[in-house]
Amino acid sequence: GAEVVINGSSSPAVVDRSNESIKHNIQPASSKWRHNQTLSLRIRKQILKFLDAEKDISVLKGTLKPGDIIHYIFDRDSTMNVSQNLYELLPRTSPLKNKHFGTCAIVGNSGVLLNSGCGQEIDAHSFVIRCNLAPVQEYARDVGLKTDLVTMNPSVIQRAFEDLVNATWREKLLQRLHSLNGSILWIPAFMARGGKERVEWVNELILKHHVNVRTAYPSLRLLHAVRGYWLTNKVHIKRPTTGLLMYTLATRFCNQIYLYGFWPFPLDQNQKPVKYHYYDSLKYGYTSQASPHTMPLEFKALKSLHEQGALKLTVGQCD
Ligand code: CTP
Repeated sequence: GAEVVINGSSSPAVVDRSNESIKHNIQPASSKWRHNQTLSLRIRKQILKFLDAEKDISVLKGTLKPGDIIHYIFDRDSTMNVSQNLYELLPRTSPLKNKHFGTCAIVGNSGVLLNSGCGQEIDAHSFVIRCNLAPVQEYARDVGLKTDLVTMNPSVIQRAFEDLVNATWREKLLQRLHSLNGSILWIPAFMARGGKERVEWVNELILKHHVNVRTAYPSLRLLHAVRGYWLTNKVHIKRPTTGLLMYTLATRFCNQIYLYGFWPFPLDQNQKPVKYHYYDSLKYGYTSQASPHTMPLEFKALKSLHEQGALKLTVGQCD
């Protein structure tokens, strides 16, 4: 079959940052966009050659036992032991087993969501994926409330919950976890050594307070597989972001995929400043050389897929 062109042109050597967002101009949500079913199916098939979301979304109980040693994916020389708590929280079967949804929303965390009024539209999708335990309650009008899967990098415990230094922060995290109400909590526990204690704290909290969440811990091969897929399509990402991981996984079980809150640029399409996150004051750092991510490159690939109808990006207001 014909190739999927995800990244047609090579990036220019000199980037004029002041104009960056102009180049990414995207049609407003209301203008004509049509889902390309054929292309979506072809992408799903291609991705299945690299990974299977049903399997790779989580390590299963049958494959590990307490005391097993795991080498971190990004720090191969560092290891962790599978704790009793982690073992207990491993799912017996894939949380995505035989799952199929008509439309899915993947909600990134860009400040472009503020004043978007996208909450209702997001909540209308059959399956809603969110990233890094981003708050929803206070932003419901713009981001919605429905959460079927939410990711949690261990660093979130430090950034948003003060490393649980006291009872107040522990209670805050506990409340957030309780509010997930049966949805999937996806914790990349085997990526980098820095998160060891943080993952353990969360595991302990969930078990101790009988929090109603379905925990999932991505497989050891997921990251390389995702990177491999995109590399094959000439998208040279250093380390895929959570958002890109979620899109890649979603192709397996979602018929149509809608992306919100993906906008890794400091200015919006009307040249107005955009916050990096809709909910905190974190600054842009990911466009720098030192960052492990290449978000603008990822965005370019996603935009190309939007133009071909494989996914729909919303970067402005919803109707
Ligand atoms: N995102 C985006 N533009 C922004 C911020 C985030 O496109 N200004 C997308 C990225 O795909 C990102 C996802 O939304 O992975 C979730 O955002 P965030 O929680 O900020 O992810 P990071 O912690 O920055 O990065 P990661 O979890 O991918 O390491």
